[in-house]
Parts: sequence; structure tokens; C-alpha cells
Amino acid sequence: MTEKQFELIDRATERKSELPVRTGTIGPAVVDISSINKDLGLFTYDPGFGLTAATESRITYIDGDAGVLLYRGYPVEQLAEKSSFMEVAYLLLLGELPSRKQLEGFSGSIRYHTMINETLLRFFNGFHHNAHPMAMVSAVVASMSAFYHDTMDIHNPRQREIFAHRIIAKIPTIAAAAHKHSLGQPFIYPRNDLGYCSNALHMLFAVPCEPYQVDSVAAEALDLLFILHADHEQNASTSTVRLAGSTGANPYAAISAGVSALWGPAHGGANEAVLSMLEQIGSVDNIAKYLAMAKDKSSHFRLMGFGHRVSTNFDPRAKIIREMCHKVLVRLGRPDNPLLELALRLEEIALKDEYFISRKLYPNVDFYSGIIYSAIGIPRSMFTVMFAIARTVGWVAHWQEMISDPAMRIGRPRQLYTGPTRRDYIDITKRV
Ligand code: CMC
Repeated sequence: MTEKQFELIDRATERKSELPVRTGTIGPAVVDISSINKDLGLFTYDPGFGLTAATESRITYIDGDAGVLLYRGYPVEQLAEKSSFMEVAYLLLLGELPSRKQLEGFSGSIRYHTMINETLLRFFNGFHHNAHPMAMVSAVVASMSAFYHDTMDIHNPRQREIFAHRIIAKIPTIAAAAHKHSLGQPFIYPRNDLGYCSNALHMLFAVPCEPYQVDSVAAEALDLLFILHADHEQNASTSTVRLAGSTGANPYAAISAGVSALWGPAHGGANEAVLSMLEQIGSVDNIAKYLAMAKDKSSHFRLMGFGHRVSTNFDPRAKIIREMCHKVLVRLGRPDNPLLELALRLEEIALKDEYFISRKLYPNVDFYSGIIYSAIGIPRSMFTVMFAIARTVGWVAHWQEMISDPAMRIGRPRQLYTGPTRRDYIDITKRV
């Protein structure tokens, strides 16, 4: 909807450009700058895309200042309390909460697709045992584009739906296979009588030589973490999936690009980095030293799990996970967790510190999640993989939204060129 417009005037030439303002349903309006190159010969400059709305979207809304996160309009707190990851996946993909019958149909289809082609398993043998599981998952997901190339017409809605169900179903299987490869244990086939999270835990932890009983506390905790990680609007990995997908690339390849983008410590890789940092800090006595390092730009040390480009107040997901930490540890019979105590003290001290207050740096979703992952037996190198399993739903929802939009264009940012101006080639014998 266009309600008002700005006028941009080049004072030197008196040329003008009318910039319409477009409003969404909630949140800041955007200035549509599409005419300024034609009218004024300008591009806009926004490194890090901090102020650029690259797309319209109906999936997720964040008000970082108010600590609000909505999936298709529903507050994440309500979904965390009342919903399940499968229901949230349906909601994100299709826009509405499912009826019981729709949910059964959707979960059944996800269950149906959990196995991976046997030849995909051989890919893991190409990796050294200590390969990082994110590298393995990214590579194996990318290789799925080779398995499903001829049957993946991105303009065919049914084929897009099958892709969506396949990747959501198979990503835990691939993740678990990566983990088993790291351990040198045999791959465990999915069990389609189990729910999504119970099956993931079964594939991660069962061994063929003895029965394995899924811990319901662990499965519930995982389900909740997956709900909280499922989407976060145009974050770096989702934007990567959109950009790669905008070329018409095979969507498995686009999802693999998302996995790679998520791995970085500024993004999903922070959950692994937080636990390493807490261990490095070691005790409450060392907090002051590490906070001083975090404030000293020359140290290149950042308080991992703190700060967010968009969440400039307490991240609602961090609040839920912090509360959940205590409950899960008590229910698992391990109420005393020194790393949780240290994290709580670190948060308390940092939030009273002028540096963190003035920059609005609060704990983010990754600050406490690793403590729960650890408590349910997931090794540190797998934390970001777990994040990737959940975020696959968001990536797929955004890819679907983009591909089904008739106005879709290839993503192609511009630049402010600061390199050498035109110059003539110098023969190698004449160069100094
Ligand atoms: N520790 C210390 N200083 C920080 C931190 C931090 N964690 N985060 C930001 N700052 C400072 C930064 O140095 C800068 O200070 P100044 O204004 O004096 O130059 C100011 O705060 C703004 O930071 P920025 O780097 O310009 O902010 P950004 O929006 O580009 O970066 C961020 C956001 C998440 C990458 C950053 O806060 C960070 O590196 N945090 C630690 C890593 C982390 O926890 N990442 C997970 C993000 S949440 C989950 C997800 O998205 O996957």
C-alpha cells in the first residue's frame, strides 16, 4: 500500500525523484527507491543490509526493540508453550495452523520421506572422522541436488511441496549420519513410528547392539528448541537461500548454501562458540577480565551469544530458553550445572555494564541453547547442526514464498566501486 512519498532532489542539477512509501501490516514502512537510478543515476549504499528490505514477506515479524517475534502472526511464546515443531513447520510453510487431520497428513508425509538414498551414505566415507559435521551436512545436502535434479521443476507446485517435505524429513537423518560418522559408529535408520524429535534422538544415540529408549524429556526439550529456531525473517542464512534460489538453482543446493551461511560464529555457529567461551572463562572470578576483553576492540574477542542486528532488547527466544534450562536440568536429574550458573552471572553482570547497555546488547537465542543441547547429550560440534535442522523449515518457507511470487527477480546487489579507474595493460617485461 502506498500512502505518502518522499522527494529526493539533486541540488546540483535540480533533478528529482519521487519515492513512494510502502507500508506493511505492522512494522516500519519502507521507502521504495526503485526509481532513483532512472531519475538521478544513483544507487543506495547500505553495507550489511542493515536498513534494506530486500523483499516483501508474510512469514515472520520481529520487533527487536519490543522483544516481539511472530510466526505468521502468532507470538513465539504461545507457540513454544502450546504447539509442536511439526505444527509450527506446517504454519510457517502454509500460513495457517493445521486442523488435526491436516497435521496428521503433514506429519505422515514427513515421516514417509525420512530415509535417504543408500548411496548418499557413502558420501560420508569421503570425510575424515574429525570433519566438522556442518561441513558434512552442507556437502551432503548439496549432493541431494544430484539425486533430485530431473524431478525438481521449481515452477511445479507439487514438486516444490515434495521437495519441502523431503528436505525437512531427511535433514535429521543426514545430521545423525554425520554424527555417527564422527564417532565411527554405524548409521542408524530412521524409525517412522517415532515423532520428529524422538526419531532424531534415536538416530543420533541408538546403536545396533542394544535397545534404545528415547528420553521423553530430551525429545520435548528438542521440540521446543526447534520451534524457537525455526525462522527469524531475513537473517543471513535465509537471505543466502533466497539469493541462491533466486537464480533458479536447484533448491537442495540453495539450502546447502544456507547451511554454510549458518555455520559462521556471528550467526548459528555462536551456540558452539558460547559453550567454548564459558569453559574458557571458567569461573565467576574471570568474568570481569573477559568483559574487558569484549569491550576492547583490539582483542577481537566478542561476548558470544550477545547482541543481535535486529533484536535490540531481550530476545524472547533467549528468555524462553533460559527458563527452560532450569526445568530441563531438574527433569534430567542434573539440577546443578556450573556452566548455567556462570552464564547467568555473566548475563547479570553484562546487563549492568554501560558498554552493553548503550549498545543494546542482550543475550540472544544462542546464549543458553548449548547448555540444553549438552544436557541432552548432544556434542558441541553438533549444536549448529541442530539449529540447521530447525531452520530448514524457515529456509524452505522463504524459498517457497519467493519462487511462488510472480514478481520474483534474481537477487543482484550493486556496489560503490572504489578500485582503479581504466588503465592499459602493461607487458610483463615492462612491469617493475
Ligand atoms: N560483544 C562485544 N561487543 C559487541 C558484541 C558482542 N557480542 N556484539 C556487538 N558488539 C558491539 C560492536 O563492537 C559495536 O560496537 P561499536 O559501536 O563501539 O563499534 C556495536 O556493538 C554494534 O555491533 P555490530 O557488530 O555493528 O552489530 P551487528 O548488528 O553488525 O552484529 C552480531 C550483530 C550478532 C553479529 C554481533 O552482535 C555479534 O557478533 N554477536 C556475537 C555473536 C553471536 O552471538 N551471534 C549470534 C546471533 S543470534 C543467532 C543467529 O542470528 O543465528
